[in-house]
Amino acid sequence: MERNVQIKYSEHPDPSSLSPAQIQLLQRAKDHLTSAYAPYSGFRVAAAVLMEDGQIICGTNQENMAYPSGLCAERVALFAASSARPGVVMRAIALTVSTDKAEMNHPVAPCGACRQVMLEYELKQESSMQVIMQGSSGPVLVFDNVKSLLPLHFFEAVLKSRP
Ligand code: THU
Repeated sequence: MERNVQIKYSEHPDPSSLSPAQIQLLQRAKDHLTSAYAPYSGFRVAAAVLMEDGQIICGTNQENMAYPSGLCAERVALFAASSARPGVVMRAIALTVSTDKAEMNHPVAPCGACRQVMLEYELKQESSMQVIMQGSSGPVLVFDNVKSLLPLHFFEAVLKSRP
Protein backbone atom coordinates (compact mmCIF):
# COMPACT_ATOMS: atom_id res chain seq x y z
CA MET A 1 0.00 0.00 0.00
CA GLU A 2 1.41 3.36 -0.96
CA ARG A 3 0.89 6.32 1.33
CA ASN A 4 1.60 9.98 0.86
CA VAL A 5 2.65 12.57 3.40
CA GLN A 6 1.84 16.19 2.65
CA ILE A 7 3.40 19.19 4.33
CA LYS A 8 1.23 22.28 4.47
CA TYR A 9 2.80 25.73 4.68
CA SER A 10 2.26 29.17 3.29
CA GLU A 11 4.74 31.01 1.11
CA HIS A 12 4.90 34.80 1.22
CA PRO A 13 6.82 36.13 -1.79
CA ASP A 14 6.27 39.58 -0.36
CA PRO A 15 7.00 39.72 3.40
CA SER A 16 4.60 42.65 3.78
CA SER A 17 1.78 40.08 3.76
CA LEU A 18 3.03 38.84 7.17
CA SER A 19 1.60 40.10 10.46
CA PRO A 20 3.54 42.84 12.31
CA ALA A 21 4.42 40.29 15.01
CA GLN A 22 5.87 37.89 12.42
CA ILE A 23 7.86 40.68 10.76
CA GLN A 24 9.21 41.79 14.15
CA LEU A 25 10.21 38.24 15.11
CA LEU A 26 12.09 37.72 11.83
CA GLN A 27 13.79 41.08 12.25
CA ARG A 28 14.92 40.15 15.77
CA ALA A 29 16.46 36.94 14.39
CA LYS A 30 18.24 38.92 11.65
CA ASP A 31 19.54 41.45 14.17
CA HIS A 32 20.94 38.59 16.23
CA LEU A 33 22.95 37.00 13.36
CA THR A 34 26.03 38.94 14.41
CA SER A 35 26.30 36.77 17.53
CA ALA A 36 26.70 33.55 15.52
CA TYR A 37 30.04 31.87 16.12
CA ALA A 38 30.63 30.08 12.84
CA PRO A 39 34.34 30.35 11.96
CA TYR A 40 34.42 26.84 10.45
CA SER A 41 31.36 26.85 8.20
CA GLY A 42 30.95 30.57 7.56
CA PHE A 43 27.22 29.78 7.75
CA ARG A 44 25.41 31.91 10.32
CA VAL A 45 21.99 30.91 11.59
CA ALA A 46 19.76 32.80 14.02
CA ALA A 47 16.54 31.81 15.74
CA ALA A 48 14.11 34.04 17.66
CA VAL A 49 11.52 32.44 19.92
CA LEU A 50 8.32 34.37 20.74
CA MET A 51 7.06 33.57 24.23
CA GLU A 52 3.36 33.81 25.05
CA ASP A 53 3.82 37.05 26.96
CA GLY A 54 5.61 38.69 24.04
CA GLN A 55 9.18 38.23 25.22
CA ILE A 56 11.60 37.23 22.45
CA ILE A 57 14.55 34.93 23.20
CA CYS A 58 17.22 34.59 20.52
CA GLY A 59 19.99 32.13 19.76
CA THR A 60 22.62 31.62 17.08
CA ASN A 61 24.74 28.68 16.00
CA GLN A 62 27.84 28.13 18.10
CA GLU A 63 30.60 26.08 16.50
CA ASN A 64 33.59 24.39 18.05
CA MET A 65 36.94 23.15 16.73
CA ALA A 66 35.85 19.67 17.84
CA TYR A 67 33.02 19.84 15.31
CA PRO A 68 30.23 17.79 16.94
CA SER A 69 30.52 19.87 20.10
CA GLY A 70 28.86 22.87 18.46
CA LEU A 71 25.13 23.51 18.44
CA CYS A 72 22.56 24.77 15.94
CA ALA A 73 20.89 28.15 16.44
CA GLU A 74 17.45 26.62 16.91
CA ARG A 75 18.54 24.49 19.85
CA VAL A 76 20.58 27.31 21.41
CA ALA A 77 17.43 29.49 21.33
CA LEU A 78 14.98 26.78 22.45
CA PHE A 79 17.16 25.57 25.31
CA ALA A 80 17.76 29.17 26.44
CA ALA A 81 14.01 29.84 26.32
CA SER A 82 13.10 26.67 28.18
CA SER A 83 15.74 27.14 30.86
CA ALA A 84 14.98 30.86 31.39
CA ARG A 85 11.19 30.51 31.24
CA PRO A 86 10.23 26.90 32.07
CA GLY A 87 6.57 26.18 31.37
CA VAL A 88 6.00 29.36 29.36
CA VAL A 89 4.42 28.64 25.96
CA MET A 90 6.56 29.29 22.89
CA ARG A 91 4.20 30.73 20.29
CA ALA A 92 6.53 30.95 17.31
CA ILE A 93 10.12 30.59 16.18
CA ALA A 94 11.67 32.61 13.35
CA LEU A 95 14.77 31.37 11.54
CA THR A 96 17.18 33.16 9.26
CA VAL A 97 20.63 32.59 7.75
CA SER A 98 23.53 34.43 6.18
CA THR A 99 26.83 33.21 4.77
CA ASP A 100 30.31 34.57 4.12
CA LYS A 101 30.13 33.53 0.48
CA ALA A 102 26.74 34.05 -1.11
CA GLU A 103 23.67 36.15 -0.56
CA MET A 104 21.09 33.77 0.89
CA ASN A 105 17.84 34.85 -0.73
CA HIS A 106 15.86 31.71 0.07
CA PRO A 107 14.80 30.13 3.37
CA VAL A 108 16.85 27.29 4.89
CA ALA A 109 14.84 24.63 6.70
CA PRO A 110 16.00 23.42 10.13
CA CYS A 111 17.92 20.16 10.47
CA GLY A 112 16.18 16.99 11.66
CA ALA A 113 17.62 17.13 15.18
CA CYS A 114 16.32 20.68 15.68
CA ARG A 115 12.89 19.69 14.36
CA GLN A 116 12.73 16.91 16.94
CA VAL A 117 13.68 19.35 19.73
CA MET A 118 11.12 21.93 18.55
CA LEU A 119 8.50 19.19 18.40
CA GLU A 120 9.16 18.09 21.95
CA TYR A 121 8.42 21.57 23.27
CA GLU A 122 5.32 21.84 21.07
CA LEU A 123 3.97 18.51 22.37
CA LYS A 124 4.84 19.42 25.97
CA GLN A 125 3.03 22.77 25.83
CA GLU A 126 0.01 21.24 24.02
CA SER A 127 -0.17 24.30 21.82
CA SER A 128 1.19 25.06 18.35
CA MET A 129 4.54 26.71 17.76
CA GLN A 130 4.54 28.49 14.41
CA VAL A 131 7.74 28.21 12.35
CA ILE A 132 8.75 31.17 10.16
CA MET A 133 11.75 31.03 7.81
CA GLN A 134 13.52 33.46 5.53
CA GLY A 135 17.00 33.91 4.07
CA SER A 136 18.60 37.36 4.28
CA SER A 137 15.86 38.38 1.85
CA GLY A 138 13.39 36.67 -0.46
CA PRO A 139 10.27 34.63 0.26
CA VAL A 140 9.09 33.77 3.76
CA LEU A 141 7.71 30.33 4.59
CA VAL A 142 5.27 29.89 7.48
CA PHE A 143 4.39 26.54 9.03
CA ASP A 144 1.43 26.57 11.43
CA ASN A 145 3.11 24.09 13.76
CA VAL A 146 6.25 22.00 14.18
CA LYS A 147 4.38 18.73 13.69
CA SER A 148 3.80 19.53 10.03
CA LEU A 149 7.58 19.89 9.57
CA LEU A 150 8.31 16.47 11.03
CA PRO A 151 5.89 13.83 9.82
CA LEU A 152 6.35 10.29 11.19
CA HIS A 153 8.22 11.74 14.14
CA PHE A 154 9.71 9.87 17.08
CA PHE A 155 7.45 10.19 20.11
CA GLU A 156 7.66 9.39 23.79
CA ALA A 157 5.04 6.64 23.87
CA VAL A 158 7.32 4.27 21.96
CA LEU A 159 9.80 4.44 24.85
CA LYS A 160 7.10 3.12 27.15
CA SER A 161 6.02 0.32 24.83
CA ARG A 162 9.15 -1.78 25.37
CA PRO A 163 8.46 -5.47 26.00
N1 THU B 1 22.98 24.94 11.57
C1 THU B 1 22.02 25.51 12.36
O1 THU B 1 22.32 26.39 13.18
N2 THU B 1 20.75 25.09 12.21
C2 THU B 1 20.34 24.10 11.37
O2 THU B 1 19.17 23.73 11.37
C3 THU B 1 21.29 23.49 10.46
C4 THU B 1 22.70 23.92 10.59
C5 THU B 1 24.37 25.37 11.74
C6 THU B 1 25.26 24.32 12.32
C7 THU B 1 26.61 24.75 11.81
O3 THU B 1 27.15 25.72 12.72
C8 THU B 1 26.31 25.44 10.49
O4 THU B 1 24.91 25.71 10.50
C9 THU B 1 26.65 24.61 9.29
O5 THU B 1 26.05 23.37 9.34
